[in-house]
Amino acid sequence: MGHYFTLLLLLIICKSLEAWNCTVSCKCTNFTSSCCGPQKTQHLPIIGNQNATELVLDSCGSFPMDNKTLQNFSSLKELTVKRTILLYLDAHPFHGLPMLQTLNLTEVNLSNAAMHQNAFAGLPIRRLFLANNRLDQIRRGMFAGLMNLEHLDLSGNGLRSIEENALANLVSLRFLNLDNNHFVTITPYWFGVMLRNNSFPVVSLIGNTLTCECKYRGMALPEYQWFSRSVILTNSSCMVNPAVEECSPPQVEEVYKVVTVRDLQPLTLSCLLSGFPRPRVSWILPSGLQLFNKSFPPFYNEDGTLHVPVVQSKFAGLYACMATNVEGTAVSLLNIVVSPTPNPPFITSRPVTSPTPQTPTISKSLRVLLWTAVVLICIIFLIILFCILRVACRYLKQHLCNDVSFNRFVDTPNILTLPENPQSIPHIDERHGHVHWSRENGDDTVPRVAEHTDGSYPPHQQTVTELERRTQL
Ligand SMILES: *[C@@H]1O[C@H](CO)[C@@H](O)[C@H](O)[C@H]1NC(C)=O
Ligand SMILES: *[C@@H]1O[C@H](CO)[C@@H](O)[C@H](O)[C@H]1NC(C)=O
Ligand SMILES: *[C@@H]1O[C@H](CO)[C@@H](O)[C@H](O)[C@H]1NC(C)=O
Ligand SMILES: *[C@@H]1O[C@H](CO)[C@@H](O)[C@H](O)[C@H]1NC(C)=O
Ligand SMILES: *[C@@H]1O[C@H](CO)[C@@H](O)[C@H](O)[C@H]1NC(C)=O
Ligand SMILES: *[C@@H]1O[C@H](CO)[C@@H](O)[C@H](O)[C@H]1NC(C)=O
Ligand SMILES: *[C@@H]1O[C@H](CO)[C@@H](O)[C@H](O)[C@H]1NC(C)=O
Ligand SMILES: *[C@@H]1O[C@H](CO)[C@@H](O)[C@H](O)[C@H]1NC(C)=O
Ligand SMILES: *[C@@H]1O[C@H](CO)[C@@H](O)[C@H](O)[C@H]1NC(C)=O
Ligand SMILES: *[C@@H]1O[C@H](CO)[C@@H](O)[C@H](O)[C@H]1NC(C)=O
Repeated sequence: MGHYFTLLLLLIICKSLEAWNCTVSCKCTNFTSSCCGPQKTQHLPIIGNQNATELVLDSCGSFPMDNKTLQNFSSLKELTVKRTILLYLDAHPFHGLPMLQTLNLTEVNLSNAAMHQNAFAGLPIRRLFLANNRLDQIRRGMFAGLMNLEHLDLSGNGLRSIEENALANLVSLRFLNLDNNHFVTITPYWFGVMLRNNSFPVVSLIGNTLTCECKYRGMALPEYQWFSRSVILTNSSCMVNPAVEECSPPQVEEVYKVVTVRDLQPLTLSCLLSGFPRPRVSWILPSGLQLFNKSFPPFYNEDGTLHVPVVQSKFAGLYACMATNVEGTAVSLLNIVVSPTPNPPFITSRPVTSPTPQTPTISKSLRVLLWTAVVLICIIFLIILFCILRVACRYLKQHLCNDVSFNRFVDTPNILTLPENPQSIPHIDERHGHVHWSRENGDDTVPRVAEHTDGSYPPHQQTVTELERRTQL
């Protein structure tokens, strides 16, 4: 029993001698705490002490960091994470470190995807090291509210672009390290309008292969002349080249669009975009396959236009058009809906099953119009015929009364001396009408013969030819 008592006493003495409750895997001094090391595992959360000013998380394997990971580090001024993989950096993970001055997260596999938008927002830090990570873009808001930040190291990431105004409120910034990234163009628009006196940040861009394809935006403006002076480059001959057009990032006209296409029809997709230099377009198919400048039958990327010769219903889905140039990337989403083409038997029965209102009315009105036209033409024709007949009748009547109706049948009218030959016609006189009637019928080769009711030919009956012969005599 006494044995136990002395042990407990020893423990209490040891405890009181300790500067603080050091977390299991950490080595703690009065002010610094170095965790992990050979153990390579970190017991979370890491609990500190109000007097600790420095924390080094070295070789801690991999773990996510959120606002509960570091506790009781109210005096911490410097935090370094090294040889460790931060799986995810959640919102405000350093929220409980009001005294933090230096945050060193060099080479911890940070990417845009593995980081909350507000991971650093609002921190009072003066130095932030994010070198050798996997960031590819700096978005607006990522460094919002870092009013005291003087030194920002983003070297050795895969950075291609910084959004305009993304560094606008870093009013204390003195040095920005962007070495060894993938910048192709640069612009002072990153900083927005700088409301400073004469302390402008030095921007180091060594190890970026800047392009000469286009003029860097804003470099020639007088209010941004500080930028041209502050930038450290291996060569800078293309910053302000009046000969070329200003660079501009790709912009798509429609971010999302639904396109309906019929089954078995050809499909051509293009995305309306702007940007200089002219963006290269790749297509991401619903399967996830990305078509760069090549084809994957039946999908053909022909100079930025996606072509499918024959659409099938299984091709429906979300297509993404990705436009990229030196300034950035823009995406347009096209939702392709494939509607089935109705088959022929269905078409024939269509008026019964689903009468579409347009075609019947069109054909009906057309038919009515046609019939009206036909009837009108008939009426006009009849009227004309009637008129001709009337005129002809009147004319004939007039001429027959004057006994010169045979003028027409006489080839040589100057010989015609009908009055000189009166004897041969008297009994024919009454038959004139018959002769004329047959002529009117256009039947002048076959002479018409008037029949008597008893069927016998009248004795005085003469054919027209006979008549003509007589008149010619
Ligand atoms: C913190 O430091 C002060 C003096 O600097 C000391 O009195 C106090 O005991 C320390 N606290 C702990 C938890 O070590
Ligand atoms: C140290 O840890 C023990 C239990 O593990 C706890 O009772 C004690 O309050 C802690 N001391 C400090 C200063 O956090
Ligand atoms: C740690 O603090 C104790 C008193 O709390 C002090 O005696 C000791 O010298 C300090 N150690 C160092 C390295 O500062
Ligand atoms: C920590 O984060 C959680 C959600 O991630 C949130 O609900 C909570 O309020 C945060 N705590 C502090 C102190 O910020
Ligand atoms: C953290 O510190 C507070 C006092 O500042 C104390 O009450 C609390 O127990 C500590 N938490 C841990 C886990 O040691
Ligand atoms: C930050 O940490 C890395 C190791 O991860 C180290 O090489 C570098 O010197 C540190 N930077 C500063 C300013 O302490
Ligand atoms: C680093 O992160 C990337 C994704 O951002 C992941 O694919 C990769 O496996 C990570 N590396 C390690 C060593 O975990
Ligand atoms: C100029 O700089 C000084 C010192 O940094 C600062 O106090 C002052 O407010 C600045 N003036 C303007 C107009 O920004
Ligand atoms: C910069 O210099 C490298 C070689 O040192 C050269 O290949 C490149 O074209 C130059 N770029 C510009 C923009 O002058
Ligand atoms: C696509 O490739 C062809 C040859 O393979 C080339 O002529 C053409 O310029 C390329 N187009 C783009 C936009 O890269």
